[in-house]
Amino acid sequence: MLLSEQAYQKIDRELAKFPAEQKQSAIMASLGIAQVETGWISPEVIEDVANYLGVPPIAVQEVATFYNMFDTKPVGSIKISVCTNLPCALRDGEKAADHLKRKLGIGFHETTPDGMFTLIEGECMGACGDAPVLLVNNRHMCVRMSEEKLDAMIEELKAQGESA
Ligand code: FES
Repeated sequence: MLLSEQAYQKIDRELAKFPAEQKQSAIMASLGIAQVETGWISPEVIEDVANYLGVPPIAVQEVATFYNMFDTKPVGSIKISVCTNLPCALRDGEKAADHLKRKLGIGFHETTPDGMFTLIEGECMGACGDAPVLLVNNRHMCVRMSEEKLDAMIEELKAQGESA
């Protein structure tokens, strides 16, 4: 058992939403619960979630690798996903990404040496009209991210990280 008791209880609640023969439907939510706890989806987490749900590991693996909100490699404590799909790219999405790369000194799919920030390319987040758009830790969406707003966000995240 890799996860905490509370995590398995949450998974139980997800499982309860589906009939017994549709356990696979709980994979996505279960991986989300696991990732919050473990930081990323390692092969051991895939195995553990599969065992717990009683589904084949390959089914869990497919979900983990299909959705880019799941990290199948270690990431920093703060993951910033910048939308670079075309509508955003045409409206300064790339520019915002370049600014973050320069500021953090990393490229996409890289982590700062202190382990704090990982930068990734995100997929459309449904807020194309408010580009540049980014998502922090798969949860907090930030829109219309000018360079000034990006700088302020990084400083704020650093301060939160240091006080955590
Ligand atoms: Fe970036 Fe839609 S293309 S939010």
